[in-house]
Amino acid sequence: MLDRQAVTHALADIIDAGGSGSIVTNDRVQKVDIERGVVRITLALPNADRDEKDRIEDACFDAVMGLDGVKDVTVVTTTSQQSAQAAQGPGPPPTGNPFDDQAPIPGVKNIIAVASGKGGVGKSTVCVNLALALAKRGATVGLLDADVYGPSLHILLGIDSRPTAGKDKEIRPVEKHGLKLMSLGFLTDDSTPVIWRGPIVMGVVKKFLLDVEWGDLDYLMIDLPPGTGDAQLTLAQTVPLTGAIIVTTPSKLSLVDAEKGLRMFEQVDAPVIGIVENMSTFVCPHCGERTDIFDSDGGQKMSESTSVEILGSIPIDPAVRAGGDSGKPIVHADGNSPIAKAFFAVADKIRQRFPARVA
Ligand SMILES: Nc1ncnc2c1ncn2[C@@H]1O[C@H](COP(=O)(O)OP(=O)(O)OP(=O)(O)O)[C@@H](O)[C@H]1O
Ligand SMILES: [Mg+2]
Repeated sequence: MLDRQAVTHALADIIDAGGSGSIVTNDRVQKVDIERGVVRITLALPNADRDEKDRIEDACFDAVMGLDGVKDVTVVTTTSQQSAQAAQGPGPPPTGNPFDDQAPIPGVKNIIAVASGKGGVGKSTVCVNLALALAKRGATVGLLDADVYGPSLHILLGIDSRPTAGKDKEIRPVEKHGLKLMSLGFLTDDSTPVIWRGPIVMGVVKKFLLDVEWGDLDYLMIDLPPGTGDAQLTLAQTVPLTGAIIVTTPSKLSLVDAEKGLRMFEQVDAPVIGIVENMSTFVCPHCGERTDIFDSDGGQKMSESTSVEILGSIPIDPAVRAGGDSGKPIVHADGNSPIAKAFFAVADKIRQRFPARVA
């Protein structure tokens, strides 16, 4: 029978970070949820580095996937104790529920996260172009780069200035193309990798949410790092999210990871607004032939299997990449192009469901 005991038993041989004892005997398994064959495991690995975290997550996935009746496995890991408590979910944890600390950001109406389980699927590109599309429709939009490991929004927007401090030492975001941006990319060297453990990641994400002078915003769009970890949990526990947009390519590998990302938001009780399928069909500019480079209809299939709405499909087009590399995102550079129109269509769905302050 598929129950918590069976799952714990399957995890019992997985060696903890540091090599001594198993993750079960060392009490690393914080939570196991099972719902219609989907197993969600929350781990707290306070001393794990990235490689160990990946090894343990993969081992958990393989061990539990092998059990009878398991359709999918999601592993959410935190490397800090505090977010481990957050991951415990709505039940009352012993030291109080960290979600109780959630508070809106004054003046900010909608807070929307752009996420995926997998790297490189176009989260940042989608985030920036949706933000621009919303701004071009008249909304006031902020952008927070919460990808503290590999910030990229400052590059996508072609910004080389830095934020300034206000009179009360609050951080003033940098403005470009009508958007207000805050990113760790302003403060770090682009060629130096950032290797941070959980508590620091949590601190930076919180600071960017709460200590930046965002002013009145209709939408604060947040670009997340790939995966399901400390940045995602901190976000969910610090502010009430309007919802998350999950980005995926149509390929099977990307979809598996995207679904993990989606389940993570469900696990922390944050609503999922919908799925954006990126890098869908390529239309040859010379002959008009259509090629499904990353397969086709993956987002649609995911939408059917998860009952989450598909907000739109963005074709793959060299102009999107070129726009990102040159700091002129396609919605800004060529607002009438078919790709920009695909972004506007998604932005319009967001506006209809979550209106700006002044319609
Ligand atoms: N629809 C598209 N057509 C062509 N190129 C695209 C498209 N979407 C994204 N790209 C390109 O793919 C690359 C990865 O995109 P991006 O950085 O937005 O992904 P990401 O999911 O944010 O990655 P990471 O996980 O590293 O943060 C970039 O070079 C970007 O310009
Ligand atoms: Mg990114």
